[in-house]
Amino acid sequence: MRAGFRINGDPVAVDGEPRLHLADCLCNVLGLTGTHLGCEQGACGASTVIVDGAAVCACLILTVQAEGASVVTVEGLSSDDALSPLQTAFRKHHALQCGFCTPGVLTTAHALLTEEPDADADRIRSALSNNLCRCTRHILYVAAVLQARSGYRKTDKP
Ligand code: FES
Ligand code: FES
Repeated sequence: MRAGFRINGDPVAVDGEPRLHLADCLCNVLGLTGTHLGCEQGACGASTVIVDGAAVCACLILTVQAEGASVVTVEGLSSDDALSPLQTAFRKHHALQCGFCTPGVLTTAHALLTEEPDADADRIRSALSNNLCRCTRHILYVAAVLQARSGYRKTDKP
């Protein structure tokens, strides 16, 4: 199969087995190893990426299903120049430990705040309910996402 889509803004065309799921494609074909694989059945959230604005588990969709889509991975969430609002907030709140879950948490939070920059704590907890953290950072990453909201509010930007 051959699938063409945009990854972090750049067009790519991938040849591979029809069963190649998007997470393996990102990590093993495109070299974007920031997307992590844990359960490979949609239960841990580690493989979450953003497809056409929605947070989805990349282990649950086939690469061919991304045809024509815009895919954003954790590598596409910030430039090299400065920390993003989420990165700044996660650092301040020590909202990660080993970091294994972190890419999925950041992509999920980014998709949420892009659509709902005023999301409250309950909404954030709900959106992140599929992102499991074995280091038990859950309370801290909710606090970090709450802080990062101001960076997503258009009226708050200079
Ligand atoms: S590896 Fe995809 S949700 Fe766990
Ligand atoms: S920081 Fe280790 S699994 Fe979440």
